Amino acid sequence: MIKKLFNQIKGLVTYDADREFYAKVFPDSLNQVDLMRFRKMSKADLPRVLEIESQGYNYPWKEPIFHDCLNAAHYDCWVCEDTEDKMLAFCIVSTAVGESTVLNLCIDPVIRKQGLGRKFMLHVIENARAKKAESVFLEVRPSNVGAIALYESMGFNEIGVRPGYYKTENGEREDALMMAFTIV
Ligand SMILES: CC(C)(COP(=O)(O)OP(=O)(O)OC[C@H]1O[C@@H](n2cnc3c(N)ncnc32)[C@H](O)[C@@H]1OP(=O)(O)O)[C@@H](O)C(=O)NCCC(=O)NCCS
Repeated sequence: MIKKLFNQIKGLVTYDADREFYAKVFPDSLNQVDLMRFRKMSKADLPRVLEIESQGYNYPWKEPIFHDCLNAAHYDCWVCEDTEDKMLAFCIVSTAVGESTVLNLCIDPVIRKQGLGRKFMLHVIENARAKKAESVFLEVRPSNVGAIALYESMGFNEIGVRPGYYKTENGEREDALMMAFTIV
């Protein structure tokens, strides 16, 4: 237990030291996304999480859903921050019985299409691997072509459809594409 805590602290300190070093000595060698770091979400983060969420979706999750996620034992709620500790993305993943499911991934519009979505999904896959999960699942709207392109480029495959799963603006329903990534 003490050894685990020590290693976690050591990891943080080492990472910070590397980050500072590269940022100072080779400022052009790293872009903003390379320098961003992950940490676990806390309740104090919710105002900013809700801001990012409301910019990401037509039907954003409300605060009680995030509270439930933070309280759920098998959920990991991650945020990603820049070098000035500004949160620019979050992701919520549940892991149980060898399966991780990405429930929400949302990137601030100011930093989209710069590789942060990919970096976050790699983090999710590595975390799933560390928890001995064999697959990562997610659901996505067929109209969300950017997200689908991201997931496909990372090796996710379509495994099915949930008919009429999502609300749409015109009052109709949209299917959910179910996608899966196999951890080898
Ligand atoms: C979908 C989302 C997570 C992508 O994050 P991102 O940081 O912009 O993605 P990245 O920059 O890492 O993109 C990686 C790849 O995804 C694809 N991609 C991402 N956005 C795209 C877009 N708008 N159109 C087409 N392809 C896109 C590209 O293949 C890209 O690879 P490239 O850089 O080689 O072109 C982000 O747009 C977002 O948060 N959207 C709102 C919330 C949402 O829809 N979440 C997903 C719910 S399932």
